This record gives sequence, structure tokens and C-alpha cells, in this order.
Amino acid sequence: MTDGAAAAMPYGPSDDTAQRPGAHRDAPSPPTGIEARRFRTILGHFATGVVAVTAIDGETGRPAGLAANSFTSVSLDPALVSFCVAHTSTTWPRIRRAGRFCVNILSAPQLEVCLRLAAKGGDKFAGLDWTESPGGGPVIDGALAWLECTVEAEHVAGDHVIVVARVHHLDRHHDGDPLVFYRGSYGSFTE
Ligand SMILES: Cc1cc2nc3c(=O)[nH]c(=O)nc-3n(C[C@H](O)[C@H](O)[C@H](O)COP(=O)(O)O)c2cc1C
Repeated sequence: MTDGAAAAMPYGPSDDTAQRPGAHRDAPSPPTGIEARRFRTILGHFATGVVAVTAIDGETGRPAGLAANSFTSVSLDPALVSFCVAHTSTTWPRIRRAGRFCVNILSAPQLEVCLRLAAKGGDKFAGLDWTESPGGGPVIDGALAWLECTVEAEHVAGDHVIVVARVHHLDRHHDGDPLVFYRGSYGSFTE
């Protein structure tokens, strides 16, 4: 892993816990006794990639998206993947309504895309180039790969919902290095 960028990290072990959806600096400890900031700091040692979950908003006709590092593969037959979405997300209900959506696996040069999709409000896609997957999901230029999905199941889990998604189409897109998220910083992985 190369040096991580010292970027803002709403989903990492930041001291500014107010940045994370649903998190509060003085949030009481959960019944398990594990304090929220400590939970995030320890879990931050698990390096992940970052995906952009995107769809065309049926109401505006514009693409909508959010950044997530909770993505993982689940099943080969049938082809299933999953990610977790905070109940506070205003973008997920719009993506869900769209039916078909895309999971874009972000590349290292797409840090700006990640931060933009992690922001709340505004036209997150202004100035971003994208094309459509076979079913009409936004595939962001520069992504390493994309998967076109529909929601297979949703399971409420604490302050998030675990989304299990069925994969209908998938392909590689651009060559490059992945965007890696580790201990609240962004970096890359070079072979
Ligand atoms: C690196 C990174 C990883 C993130 N991972 C998740 C995630 O797995 N689940 C989630 O709900 N939000 C995650 N977020 C936060 C969302 O991208 C984003 O803040 C939020 O969905 C935007 O608000 P909105 O949905 O109201 O537009 C992540 C943010 C960053 C920067």
C-alpha cells in the first residue's frame, strides 16, 4: 500500500465523529459497553476497497450515488454481493427505487469521486463522466470494474441495513490501482 492521502474520512477513525452519518461525539456507549470511536478505530485496521453505488433517480432523471466500503462478495451461485447502508442515507432510497443500480469499484485516482459521493446533498455527478450499463445504471469513468445489480434482500442490522444484491451484468472497466481505505486514510495498492 502506498502512502495514504490525509483526506477527510467520514467513515474512518476520525476524531471528528460528527462527520459520520448517525455518529455523535458524545454518543452513549452501546449496551455492549463498546464506545463508538473505539469501535471505529479498531475496525479501521481492516483495509477495504471503496465502491460507488449508483443509479438513475427516477424523479430527476439524474444519476445518484453514495460511497461505501462495506462491500463484499457473498455468493457465486446465484451471484450475490452485499453492502451496508446507514438508515440516515438520503441517497439509498432513491437508488433502491430505481430498481437497477451499479456498484462501481473505485480506482486510486478516484479519491475525489469517493469524497464527492460521500457528501450530502448537491449534484454529486456535476462534471463527472459516466456511461450506462446494459440495464441503465451509471458506470463512472475511471472505475476499475462495475456490477449491475438489483436488491435481493435487505436485513436491518443496528443503525444500518445489510443490502444483498443480485448481480445481472459485470465487467472490468479501466486498468489501474484500487482506491484503498485503511485507518481513515486513502491509499493505493501496487503489485
Ligand atoms: C470511504 C467511505 C466509506 C463509506 N462507506 C459507507 C458504507 O459502507 N455505508 C454507508 O451507509 N455509508 C458509507 N459512507 C458514507 C456515505 O458514502 C455517504 O456519506 C452518505 O451516504 C451520503 O449521504 P446521503 O446518502 O444522504 O447522500 C462511506 C463514506 C466514505 C468516505
